[in-house]
Amino acid sequence: MPKAMGTAIVVGASSGIGKAIAEQLVAGGWKVGLTSRKLENLAETIARLGEGAAAKAIDLDDPEGARSGLAAFADELGGVDLWILNAGTGILNRDFAWEPERQTIATNVMGFAAMTDVAVHHCIARGEGRIVGISSVAKKRGHPFTASYSGSKAFVSLYLDGVRQYLRRKAPKVSVTEVAPGYIDTPLQQFDEAFWVVSAETAARQIIAAAMARRKHAYVPKRWALVAALLSLAPR
Ligand SMILES: NC(=O)c1ccc[n+]([C@@H]2O[C@H](COP(=O)([O-])OP(=O)(O)OC[C@H]3O[C@@H](n4cnc5c(N)ncnc54)[C@H](OP(=O)(O)O)[C@@H]3O)[C@@H](O)[C@H]2O)c1
Repeated sequence: MPKAMGTAIVVGASSGIGKAIAEQLVAGGWKVGLTSRKLENLAETIARLGEGAAAKAIDLDDPEGARSGLAAFADELGGVDLWILNAGTGILNRDFAWEPERQTIATNVMGFAAMTDVAVHHCIARGEGRIVGISSVAKKRGHPFTASYSGSKAFVSLYLDGVRQYLRRKAPKVSVTEVAPGYIDTPLQQFDEAFWVVSAETAARQIIAAAMARRKHAYVPKRWALVAALLSLAPR
């Protein structure tokens, strides 16, 4: 394998934003570890990306298995410089049924904390690194059919805020970037009323740029910062 720009792990790289990030990183000379719940979901991408890419099955709904699996993957890759904590779920739940609520919270809250735990301790041990967590503009406001999704993304953003402050003392060379995308054209996006929709490739480019600049926060695309500010003020 040629000398890489660095090594990255993209958690949730079988589809949408994560897949586009993994593809762009490999094209830019990075060695990239891609994860999905099922290796078969990564097979086509891995075959196409060639020797710059490796795959591992990680299921965030088994947080302890995900923690040990991710830590082992980081070791197999020889250490990780860039962590993209992207995997997540979002389910339109018009009936406020329990199962979609439970599933969303399990993946986006407990699963997110599990992958963050591995990235944080890995970066502390190395004394450097970049951690990028994917939240959402949805963090700003509840929605009647995706209450757990908005709540879970509020958790992601505030959790990363605390992690950043912890690392500032413990490992000051480690950056933590919280990314809040608007509507991105992926299988997860199910809203008929979506607007300003951009491709996963556009989102991936902006997320990688935010990581490279070690930004603390990034709206993707940037104009969603305005919507986020308005959402905080708008009447319910
Ligand atoms: N699309 C949007 O409009 C939008 C807007 C704001 C934020 N986001 C956020 O962006 C991130 C990526 O979403 P996307 O739109 O790219 O969705 P996507 O195309 O559905 O991709 C989701 C990825 O997460 C993985 N994943 C899902 N559940 C998992 C679990 N329990 N354990 C491990 N991996 C799991 C999936 O892999 P497998 O299914 O192969 O396991 C897949 O690779 C999510 O955190 C999402 O909340 C998306």
